[in-house]
Amino acid sequence: MNTLTSLIMNRRSCRNYTDESLSRERLTELINAAVWVPNGSNNQPWRFVVITNKTLLKKYSDAAKSDWLARLAETPHLQQYEKALRDPDYNIFYNAPALVIIYGNTESYWQVYDCSMVAHNLHLLAEESGLGACWIGFAHNVFAAKETKAAFGIPDGYELVAPVILGYPTASHPTTGTPRKPFSVLFYDDDKFKCGL
Ligand SMILES: Cc1cc2nc3c(=O)[nH]c(=O)nc-3n(C[C@H](O)[C@H](O)[C@H](O)COP(=O)(O)O)c2cc1C
Repeated sequence: MNTLTSLIMNRRSCRNYTDESLSRERLTELINAAVWVPNGSNNQPWRFVVITNKTLLKKYSDAAKSDWLARLAETPHLQQYEKALRDPDYNIFYNAPALVIIYGNTESYWQVYDCSMVAHNLHLLAEESGLGACWIGFAHNVFAAKETKAAFGIPDGYELVAPVILGYPTASHPTTGTPRKPFSVLFYDDDKFKCGL
C-alpha cells in the first residue's frame, strides 16, 4: 500500500533514468504541489528555474566538475568523489530529463529550511507518481554563481538552495529505502529533570 509512511521509507535517490521526458505541465504540477510546506512567517521565499535541455545540463555538469576539481584542496568533503569527477562519462545529473533549481529569498530568515522542505516534497511527490528524484549537491557551485544567476534573471538577494533532478527511473532503481544508521533519541518526561537553564 502506498501510505505516506511507506513512500517516505522506500524513497531512494534516483541515479538511473530512462529517456522519457517530463512535460512542462507535469513539472509545473509537481512544483505547485511541492510548495505546500510549513515556512517561516509564511514568507514563501522560493522561486524556481527548470532546465529540460540535455545539452545545457551536460554543459553545466562539465563546468561543475571542472570547478570542483580545480578547488578540490579547499573542498575536503568532495575529495572522496575525485574519481567520479575526473570521469568524462560521469554526468552529475545522471542524464535525467529535468532539473528543478530552487532559489530562496535571503530577506526571509528561514529561507534555507523553507526551500529544503520544498525540495523534499518534490522527492516525495516524485516517489508517489513513479518518478525518481535526487538532490544534486555537485551542482551547487554552478547554480550559486553570480554569472549563472544573472543568465537566469534571478534577482539579487536570492541564493541557491536545492538543485533537484527528476525523471522516470530505470528498472534497476532500488525499490526499498537506504538503511538508516543508528541515532540517538532522548525523551524527558520526568518533572525532576533539571532543564539546564
Ligand atoms: C544536500 C544534498 C546533496 C546531495 N548531493 C548529491 C549529489 O551531488 N549527487 C548524488 O548522486 N546524490 C546527492 N545527494 C543524495 C544523497 O547521496 C542521498 O540522499 C543519500 O545517500 C541517502 O540516500 P537516499 O536519498 O536514497 O535515502 C544529495 C542529497 C542531499 C540532501
